[in-house]
Amino acid sequence: MRICVFNAKGGVGRTTTTLNLAGYYASNEEQRVLVADCDPQGSALGWAALAEETPFTVGRSRSRGFDIELIDMPPRIPDNGVLPDADLYLVPTLLDGVSFVVFLRTVALLEEKQLPFLVLANRYNPRRAEHRARLDSPPMAGALVIRERSAFASYYAQGRTVFDMGGRHIEEAQREIEQIALAIKKRIAR
Ligand SMILES: Nc1ncnc2c1ncn2[C@@H]1O[C@H](COP(=O)(O)OP(=O)(O)OP(=O)(O)O)[C@@H](O)[C@H]1O
Ligand SMILES: [Mg+2]
Repeated sequence: MRICVFNAKGGVGRTTTTLNLAGYYASNEEQRVLVADCDPQGSALGWAALAEETPFTVGRSRSRGFDIELIDMPPRIPDNGVLPDADLYLVPTLLDGVSFVVFLRTVALLEEKQLPFLVLANRYNPRRAEHRARLDSPPMAGALVIRERSAFASYYAQGRTVFDMGGRHIEEAQREIEQIALAIKKRIAR
């Protein structure tokens, strides 16, 4: 199975989603997982360099011999307009206005190409009216959700995913990632 984590907007949580989802598949499903860091910024590779040991492989390119491959994309639409082949495209977005404009363009591209995708509202804060309003209206209605959580900010510097972390609220963070994995499974089986 190949999942491409894609949004043309920067800083929306592509790398955070990619690495923690990889952590879920490797830890809970004991799958052989590859994260292909296709972003010249090399954030996923940088995370792996911080880790003592990673439960999955992080590489610069795609490779055979893995059950699950997650592609961490750069924050742009590829110049030639061609996206990597994938079984599913996962589109994390923030819920502020600036992020939303580029998110809508990203979704339009996937729809135009008739590619299967799931939308993920990242850093959701239910106390913010702007977030609540966007989450309730199309095309966000029914989207997957990751809340704004310190665990998703601190995992990176620790070279871990939330599946190797302990502490208060970590279980809630783990459950959000698990929900994404379940939704992916359902969407691909359709
Ligand atoms: N749910 C969350 N809660 C708190 N902080 C988050 C959350 N998701 C992401 N972040 C923080 O937001 C920042 C951007 O996240 P991330 O690097 O995953 O986004 P990206 O789309 O991969 O960005 P880039 O364009 O640099 O590749 C990071 O500092 C990350 O720790
Ligand atoms: Mg990134």
